[in-house]
Amino acid sequence: MTFDLFDALPAAPAIEPLAPGAMVLRGFARDIDTDLLAAVREVSRAAPFRHLITPGGLRMSVAMTNCGQAGWVSDRSGYRYDPADPDSGAPWPPMPTLFRSLAERAAATAGYPGFAPDACLINRYQPGTRLSLHQDRDELDLRAPIVSVSLGLPATFLWGGLRRADKPARVRLAHGDVVVWGGPSRLAFHGIAPLADGDHALTGNERINLTFRKTR
Ligand code: SIN
Ligand code: FE2
Repeated sequence: MTFDLFDALPAAPAIEPLAPGAMVLRGFARDIDTDLLAAVREVSRAAPFRHLITPGGLRMSVAMTNCGQAGWVSDRSGYRYDPADPDSGAPWPPMPTLFRSLAERAAATAGYPGFAPDACLINRYQPGTRLSLHQDRDELDLRAPIVSVSLGLPATFLWGGLRRADKPARVRLAHGDVVVWGGPSRLAFHGIAPLADGDHALTGNERINLTFRKTR
């Protein structure tokens, strides 16, 4: 056989472009899925998932928690990154090393070497949960990308443009997929369509999403 050399090479990650500076790394987090989910459970023991209130007074359908040096929170006074969990007053749990290294590897693979996230927002979706179109714009350093990891039930990611009115593409995100957006796409509108019912071997009827950000 003449193909032994090629067979020995590691498989190149399947990279699916979304827009300039934005792409899906298919299955990138799959091989560490159980460890990632165990770490999510650990974080949520110290800082439980909660439904935040928007500045307009609505209860978000996504349940959220955070780890890292800062956490994204929303209340009647607005959105912000807070070094402490407002529910307990304690600092957010530290970002697990596994999270940080995954985010760095994914960013580097997507063309953003040296990504140093200081915050990880953890979103929990159940059937019917949605996240309306928004930009991630509460970070001070917009040169750093966003790295978003999908675990559990699949979702329809709404990938819009730089204007709210741009019609979003519908992109299916499955367990282990990682989306990275930065550069010219850093302020693209995005969201999640209402989660369909399902049963995932590792998460049951839930989808967990990790988004890594450099907030300062
Ligand atoms: C987010 O925009 O913060 C989350 C996106 C997702 O759940 O995939
Ligand atoms: Fe977002």
